[in-house]
Amino acid sequence: MSALPALSIRDLRKTYDNRVEALKGVSLDVQEGDFFALLGPNGAGKSTLIGVVSSLVNASGGRVEVFGVDIQKRRSQAMRLIGLVPQEINFNMFEKPLDICVNYAGFYGVPRAEAVQRAERELRAAQLWDKAQVMSRTLSGGMKRRLMIARAMMTEPRLLILDEPTAGVDIEIRRSMWKTLREVNARGSSVILTTHYLEEAESLCRNLAIIDHGRIIESGPMKQLLAKLDNEGFLFDIENELPAELPLIEGAQLSAIDAHTLELEMPRSKSLNAVFERLNQAGIVVRSMRNKANRLEELFVSLTGSGDKAA
Ligand SMILES: Nc1ncnc2c1ncn2[C@@H]1O[C@H](COP(=O)(O)OP(=O)(O)OP(=O)(O)O)[C@@H](O)[C@H]1O
Ligand SMILES: [Mg+2]
Repeated sequence: MSALPALSIRDLRKTYDNRVEALKGVSLDVQEGDFFALLGPNGAGKSTLIGVVSSLVNASGGRVEVFGVDIQKRRSQAMRLIGLVPQEINFNMFEKPLDICVNYAGFYGVPRAEAVQRAERELRAAQLWDKAQVMSRTLSGGMKRRLMIARAMMTEPRLLILDEPTAGVDIEIRRSMWKTLREVNARGSSVILTTHYLEEAESLCRNLAIIDHGRIIESGPMKQLLAKLDNEGFLFDIENELPAELPLIEGAQLSAIDAHTLELEMPRSKSLNAVFERLNQAGIVVRSMRNKANRLEELFVSLTGSGDKAA
């Protein structure tokens, strides 16, 4: 394994001709072997970011490297490392899956005999080998989407990038694609996908970044972000002067915002009784309290479409 990240983005900016600032200084790293999700609502900048990385969109500023190869300075070399699965199905419906895969590899300079071998391997991996010779138009929706993945894998990309591969498809198709993608990742390709679905990121990805209005607002291991969601924040207005040392509360974090305001963060599952007990013992009188807005949670609720996920 090389120490170079699969993808390294620094201060990436994109302003479209209509002056929409789709990316406002995005930085992120995706390690080799990772399964990474870029999660964000409509218009967040996900497709723009993927467009820049795959050389379909010109950046207005910043730097992108794929396994250490600068996409601006050594474009074709960088492109050979990437496989792209666009959101829309864009193969010729009147071709057969085998031909679609073989011709695609030919376009990238893979000799025909080699391409035929690879096509068998990739179509088998996508559970499409028995459909290799049928007209693609007759494939089911899920099969068509798996064919998109098989085709992208024909160039043996070290980094597979998918833009909303499962948008608008039913849960059964989504699950069959997850299986294919997990296998792609297990075979050694790093995978990045964009998605609206928290559930998808949760099920597939080890690491993720959340993008909103052209900025990364959170990034890190999936588990860590979920743990953050399980925390609840409160602000206490304090009647009297706060003591120099705040009481320690097991499993919770108490900090002073100013002379008369305390902030508390603790797991949702924990009761507030113990907190009040400790504050009482320390002679701290709480006049009122309110919930602190959790930006991540609000975003997740909006991404999942309703509050039922958090409930
Ligand atoms: N070719 C373009 N010309 C002008 N503005 C664009 C263009 N493509 C995207 N935008 C704008 O840039 C912003 C980011 O769009 P982008 O398509 O990157 O978002 P997204 O996160 O992929 O959204 P979605 O989830 O809906 O696919 C939006 O405000 C969009 O209207
Ligand atoms: Mg998009």
